[in-house]
Amino acid sequence: MTDTGNEVILRVEDLRVRYEKSRSIWGTPRYSEVVKGVSFDIRRGETFGLVGESGSGKSTISKAILRQIPVIGGTISFEGERITDWKEKNIPLSYRRAVQVVFQSPRLSLNTRMLARDTVAEAVSFHLGLRGAELGRQVDMLFDDVGLPRYLGDRYPDELSGGQQQRVAIARALACDPRMLICDEAVSALDVSTQAQVIALLRRLQQERGLSYLFISHDLGVVRNLCHSVGVLQHGKFTDIGSVSDVFERPANQYTRDLLDAIPRLPGRMAPIGAV
Ligand SMILES: Nc1ncnc2c1ncn2[C@@H]1O[C@H](COP(=O)(O)OP(=O)(O)OP(=O)(O)O)[C@@H](O)[C@H]1O
Ligand SMILES: [Mg+2]
Repeated sequence: MTDTGNEVILRVEDLRVRYEKSRSIWGTPRYSEVVKGVSFDIRRGETFGLVGESGSGKSTISKAILRQIPVIGGTISFEGERITDWKEKNIPLSYRRAVQVVFQSPRLSLNTRMLARDTVAEAVSFHLGLRGAELGRQVDMLFDDVGLPRYLGDRYPDELSGGQQQRVAIARALACDPRMLICDEAVSALDVSTQAQVIALLRRLQQERGLSYLFISHDLGVVRNLCHSVGVLQHGKFTDIGSVSDVFERPANQYTRDLLDAIPRLPGRMAPIGAV
């Protein structure tokens, strides 16, 4: 995929995050730094892929962007505003709306006792304040947008397939009209054909809405298919970062080359969009 040349929407500069590992017998905390000076940009309407082995710090970076964990160094800016300057208690709702997240397991992120329709309606009514027929119309529109037949709204998550559950989670994330989606292994739990359909959906939503994605994945094949640029993370640092074509065709680092050698051959074409 070629770069769009659009403006930078998210800039991460020299980000450092640590977690408390243990305490000494005197109660002094010992830390382990898991993100060690990471920098990257995401442009509007583009997808940045974050890949790397388990424990390399991918989700930690996403949590820092969502301001769910403190950062010890570096800065994160969204649409030119330095969000790492905000105090924890003063994160504006407008930012919470602008950046939404979709996780690996929709089964865990959805309320199992809530009908699919109500899950989406709750988000729409909270963020947009809609009620009654207007709310119903907006929910229908979101179901249509994510390729989910409306009758599935009367089902609980357990009565939906994994792909359908993920579409409900995406519809809920879109309820507040975000500008960026963080997809943390959002297609990893799906079988290959369902995965291809959800990826096709993400690509269509990106084109229609100009969305930017931070796409976290173990699967380099998927990243190559969907992303414009990519960062390969190992022990909290990038071993390679750049456009997908640069990193995949001319990896600078042996770790990246080893990861690339492990990719199975890519399918030639994506499955069609549809409810799965
Ligand atoms: N809340 C926490 N407290 C302490 N350590 C943590 C915490 N969350 C994550 N870690 C540690 O930080 C490191 C990075 O974790 P992170 O979840 O960011 O990895 P990841 O790249 O997302 O892995 P995976 O691919 O398995 O999801 C790991 O060593 C992990 O054990
Ligand atoms: Mg993770």
